[in-house]
Amino acid sequence: MKFDLSNKPLKEIDADLEIIIVIDKNLDHRFVKDKKLLKKSGFNAAHEETCLLADKKRLYVGSESIKSTDIRPAIAVAIRSLSGTTFKHARIASYMSHPKCTAVLRAMVEGISLGAYTFDSYKSEKKKRKLKQITLSMEEYHDYDLDLESCGRAVLNGQIAANATNYTREIVNTTPDDCYPEVMASLALDLAEENGLECSILKTKRLKKENMNALLAVARASRHKPRVIHLAHKPKKPKAIVSIIGKGLTYDSGGLSLKPAEYMVTMKADKSGGSAVLGILKAVSEMDLPIEVHGFIGAVENMIGGDAYKPDDVLVAKNGKTIEVRNTDAEGRLVLADVLCYAQQEVEADYLFDMATLTGACVVGLGHYTSGVMGQNSAIVDRVLNAGNKISGEMTNRLEFNRYLGKTLKSDVADMSNISNTRYGGAITAGMFLSEFIDKKNREKWAHIDIAGPAFVEHAWGENPSGASGAGVRLMLRLLEKLSRGEAH
Ligand code: BES
Ligand code: ZN
Ligand code: ZN
Repeated sequence: MKFDLSNKPLKEIDADLEIIIVIDKNLDHRFVKDKKLLKKSGFNAAHEETCLLADKKRLYVGSESIKSTDIRPAIAVAIRSLSGTTFKHARIASYMSHPKCTAVLRAMVEGISLGAYTFDSYKSEKKKRKLKQITLSMEEYHDYDLDLESCGRAVLNGQIAANATNYTREIVNTTPDDCYPEVMASLALDLAEENGLECSILKTKRLKKENMNALLAVARASRHKPRVIHLAHKPKKPKAIVSIIGKGLTYDSGGLSLKPAEYMVTMKADKSGGSAVLGILKAVSEMDLPIEVHGFIGAVENMIGGDAYKPDDVLVAKNGKTIEVRNTDAEGRLVLADVLCYAQQEVEADYLFDMATLTGACVVGLGHYTSGVMGQNSAIVDRVLNAGNKISGEMTNRLEFNRYLGKTLKSDVADMSNISNTRYGGAITAGMFLSEFIDKKNREKWAHIDIAGPAFVEHAWGENPSGASGAGVRLMLRLLEKLSRGEAH
């Protein structure tokens, strides 16, 4: 999609479609020119409701408010509703609430690019998107009021954020037969080469040397060998060092504790955390943020076979802790345990985040659209929640540690069990399991983000298409942008 900013009045911009966002439920706004017709066709300007008046070349969409977290999904839904039409170039007012505030401008650009994404790699007939160009009019403001440079930057950053999200979506949507650990590693190498990142790939021999035995056990039954990927963006004078660890299960069959058939479908999306790490590093390098960012991905396939790891096995993780395997489907935490240890060994970071489609329990608790966030330092958890709910538009909720739930991970034969002995609170016990692999000195620097709910949803919602959403990319990017500006939250 091509974006331009124009200081011409909206109506003077030559385009074959106008998109109008309607906030007022009475349809009273100077941009609304078809009030009677809209009322007749039953348009109420409800949030994300659209009405295309094709003859008039106007598309209306309702939005709850002028806030960026409402505008972003509304405009995305409007763009999605245009699939199958032949409009090529749309004009839109900028809807900036203030000449100096570019938040809505960026949200619009993000919403448009995110809404235009479709996954058709496996379709023999591809629908070509006709809409190619968007012109945003800044007519409400005089040139001298506007900081055109920051407006331009908002558009560019919006494009970078959305493109990185779409890149992550594409990886997650790719089938397990086409995207396995080696492929993830080659994607990382390609990204590193294109964007000037450092990249190292750890193969089996090195993983053994590093004592990453929990990860290796999970990987053992697959014909696809595991990879640990380390990508780094290293600016000259970094304001902070951040490590982000992603769960990259290119397929999760459950292992010998096999998933029932209907729960196995969509488990290609168990690489969403790792794929988000790739997207984050892409965006961070394109924005050239003054933050040193390290991405670590545990890329593994969890399969069955004669060589599979078993319930009853005891694994020794990289930090020497022993883990009784009681369910091979709780594999993400085993992989992350080792990668978290490796990340802390390699980099002395100021902040440590992990992102994972870790538990079905998180989806049960928070629903499909919301990530669960845990951490011992509430200020860091607040940063994540804020970057999600208030800025990027990714919904997040806090999950609290609980000492009684912690006890349910006890094992009679090893230091801990890989599953809890209670059916309830599974998202929290999984996060508490991970906390056992955070060094004492890093406890206050870490937050865990369970993206199992939003990472892959089989229907479109807001700015997200059916399938992979790219969860975690925009959230983490906003958090890193804030850190790079030295802002507290
Ligand atoms: N990858 C799954 C979690 C998951 C479930 C992600 C649904 C997305 C949607 C994870 O590896 C898993 O299977 N977890 C088990 C843990 C249980 C065995 C303690 C779960 O949540 O059922
Ligand atoms: Zn699993
Ligand atoms: Zn899994």
